[in-house]
Amino acid sequence: MPSVARTLNPALAALAKKRLLFFAGKGGVGKTTVAATVAFTLAQQGKKTLLIELDDSARAARFLGVAPTDQPTNDARPVSPSLFVLSTSGQIALEEYLQLIIPFKPLLRTIVESRAYQYFVAAAPGLKELLTIGKVWYEERKREAEQPLWDIIVIDLPATGHSLQYLRMPRAAHETFGGIISREAERIAAVLHDPEKTAVNLVTTPDELPVSETQDAYRQLTEELRLPMGALFINRMHLAPCPADVLRSTTLHGPLSPKERQLFELLLRCGHTEALETDIQTARLQPLQALSLPLIPIPFAVADTADKTIVEQLSLALTTVAAGPSPRTKKSARQRPHAPRASHAETSHAQPEE
Ligand SMILES: Nc1ncnc2c1ncn2[C@@H]1O[C@H](COP(=O)(O)OP(=O)(O)OP(=O)(O)O)[C@@H](O)[C@H]1O
Ligand SMILES: [Mg+2]
Repeated sequence: MPSVARTLNPALAALAKKRLLFFAGKGGVGKTTVAATVAFTLAQQGKKTLLIELDDSARAARFLGVAPTDQPTNDARPVSPSLFVLSTSGQIALEEYLQLIIPFKPLLRTIVESRAYQYFVAAAPGLKELLTIGKVWYEERKREAEQPLWDIIVIDLPATGHSLQYLRMPRAAHETFGGIISREAERIAAVLHDPEKTAVNLVTTPDELPVSETQDAYRQLTEELRLPMGALFINRMHLAPCPADVLRSTTLHGPLSPKERQLFELLLRCGHTEALETDIQTARLQPLQALSLPLIPIPFAVADTADKTIVEQLSLALTTVAAGPSPRTKKSARQRPHAPRASHAETSHAQPEE
């Protein structure tokens, strides 16, 4: 199949100008899936992209088709020339980060292996989170021939409560500690709070509990943490191609065999179920319309698998086929401007490659 140029969803195109894209949300809503899909999509657009997952489960790596390793490392692994993935954990990030502060290796080893250090790390609230975010910041600062090594870094956070801890720690540490920790934490916080560089994105599903947790997370992120926000990704959306009232008035004329008629009735029933589900989901999302965030719908994938198939499929929903030379195609429905509010009529559908 020939590859076709695709343009980004405009809300995602705005995010693509940043350096750090965080993805937070309730447990199980699809944060890893969406973060991996966004990273994959941006890399396909030519951005040198690093996807960082903040635990060592290597789940995001699997979504990009990278096999897990026995020995977790803190190095980015290549998926393609423009896409890399890094699965880091508090412990590994901490040791690597300390290397920056204590370059003398024997001293570092002695400290890291000491009981006092192990004790301190286990007991110090938020230290691992601070240093894991420190790793993200370190990657952001990496340069090659004076150019940033990564055009963009996508960060898959853990479930909401814990993820806010990651985002809260740099400023909290700056205000709480003195000396080198405070200074380092201040530098990290400066990047996190810079709206030119950072955008915190929320992921939800159109279900009651995730919607209410999204409202809470939004309030904490904007009012308490005062972090720059990106977009709200609505995952597992049913995007019925045809509304119920149109289906109700649909009849088929002409001679049909009993088998064909049975198939037609069945398809009509499926269409009705899908239209009903879409309406229910749209109603559930109503409270989120009040948040000042662009909504980016991600459809329910046909392939419910935790591997690259789902990422490739969902990626199509984040792009549209680029405008061709013919003026007639320029104004096609696919190139219509992105609506700031997602609704049944406005949501974009995954389009097959042409
Ligand atoms: N749009 C989708 N359509 C169908 N299945 C999906 C979709 N998004 C995610 N899934 C499936 O849902 C499951 C959970 O997704 P994922 O691991 O991304 O959630 P998560 O929010 O990162 O979970 P956790 O809080 O445990 O980190 C996976 O098996 C994934 O394949
Ligand atoms: Mg996850």
